[in-house]
Amino acid sequence: MTQMTEPSPVTEIQAARATPALPDAQTVTEVQHYTDRLFRFRCTRPQSLRFRSGEFVMIGLMGDNGKPLLRAYSIASPSWDDELEFYSIKVPDGPLTSKLQHIAAGDQIILRPKPVGTLVHDALLPGKRIWFFATGTGFAPFASLLRDPETYEKFDEVVITHTCREVAELTYGAELIESIRTDELLQELIGADHLAKLKYYPTTTREQSPKMGRITTLIETGELFEDLGVPPLDPDTDRAMICGSLGFNIDVKALLEQAGLREGANSEPREFVVEKAFVGDGI
Ligand code: FAD
Ligand code: A2P
Repeated sequence: MTQMTEPSPVTEIQAARATPALPDAQTVTEVQHYTDRLFRFRCTRPQSLRFRSGEFVMIGLMGDNGKPLLRAYSIASPSWDDELEFYSIKVPDGPLTSKLQHIAAGDQIILRPKPVGTLVHDALLPGKRIWFFATGTGFAPFASLLRDPETYEKFDEVVITHTCREVAELTYGAELIESIRTDELLQELIGADHLAKLKYYPTTTREQSPKMGRITTLIETGELFEDLGVPPLDPDTDRAMICGSLGFNIDVKALLEQAGLREGANSEPREFVVEKAFVGDGI
C-alpha cells in the first residue's frame, strides 16, 4: 500500500502538468466572502514588486482562449506587507469576476508587477487633514493608505468616509478599521499615538444604519463637519483623495473645487486627487 502514501514520480509529473505555471503567477493564500457581491483575497507578492500605497496593478486569470484576462485592481494592502491583498466585486456576468469569485487558497492568479495610479501621497501638497472619500470597492486603495505609517506622519487628522447602499457592504472597511485600532502588529507599525488621528465615517443610503445619506449631501449640509467636529473644507489645510463610481467622483470633485481645492497629479501635486473605482455604465 506504499503507493497510496508516497506519490510516485509519475504522479508528480502528472500533477505538474495539470496545473501549468502561469506567466506572472502568484498563489492565493486566503479568501474571505462578505456578500454575494463582495470578497477579499490575499496572495503572494512578487519579490520584484515595489509600489506606493494607493496604486493599482493588473490582475486576472487565464481566459478560455488561452490568453490572460486582466483587470485593474487597487492593491488594498500597504507597501510594507509581505503579501498582497485585494478587495473585489463579483459581477455575475463579468468576464473576470464571474470566475475570480471562485478562487481558493492554493490557486494561482496572474499579476502584472507594474503599479500605477494617482491616489498617492506624492500627488498631494502637505496639509493638516487628509480626507479619503470612498464608495463601494473604492475603499480598496484607502485600505492600503490607512495601513501606511506615512499617512499619519504627513497629517494631523485622517478621515475615511465610506458610503454603500447596504450595511453588509461596509463590513470589509469596518473590520479593517477595527483591526487598525486593535491589532498589535498594526499598532506597532503605525504607532499607537498616530492612530488617535484616525476618524471613520461610514454611511448607507438604502438600508437603515447609524448614519444615513450620500456623503455629497452630508458635505453640502455641513453635517459631516459637525459630526466630526472639524471645520469645513479649506484649501490651506485640507487634502483629499476620491475613489468611487464616475458619478460619485464628479460630484465630490465639484464640491471640493467649490471649496477652493484643486486637482493634482503625480507630476503636479495639489490639494486633491481622483481615481475611478471601476469603469462603469456611465453616470
Ligand atoms: P467588467 O466587464 O470589467 O465590468 C462589468 C461591469 O460591472 C462594469 O461595466 C461596471 O458596471 C460593473 N463593475 C465593475 N467593477 C465594479 C466595481 N468594483 N464595483 C461596482 N461595479 C463594478 N474592482 C474591484 O473589485 N476592486 C478594485 O480594487 C478595483 N480597482 C480598480 C482600479 C481601477 C483604476 C479601475 C479602472 C478599475 C478597478 N476595478 C476594481 C474594476 C475592475 O477593473 C473590474 O472592472 C472588475 O473586477 C470587474 O471585472 P469583470 O471582468 O468581471 O467585469
Ligand atoms: P444611492 O443609493 O443614493 O445611489 P453604487 O452602488 O450605485 O455605485 O453606489 C454606491 C454608493 O454611492 C451608494 O450609497 C450611492 O447612493 C452612492 N452614490 C452613488 N452615486 C453617487 C453620487 N453621484 N454622489 C454621492 N453618492 C453617490
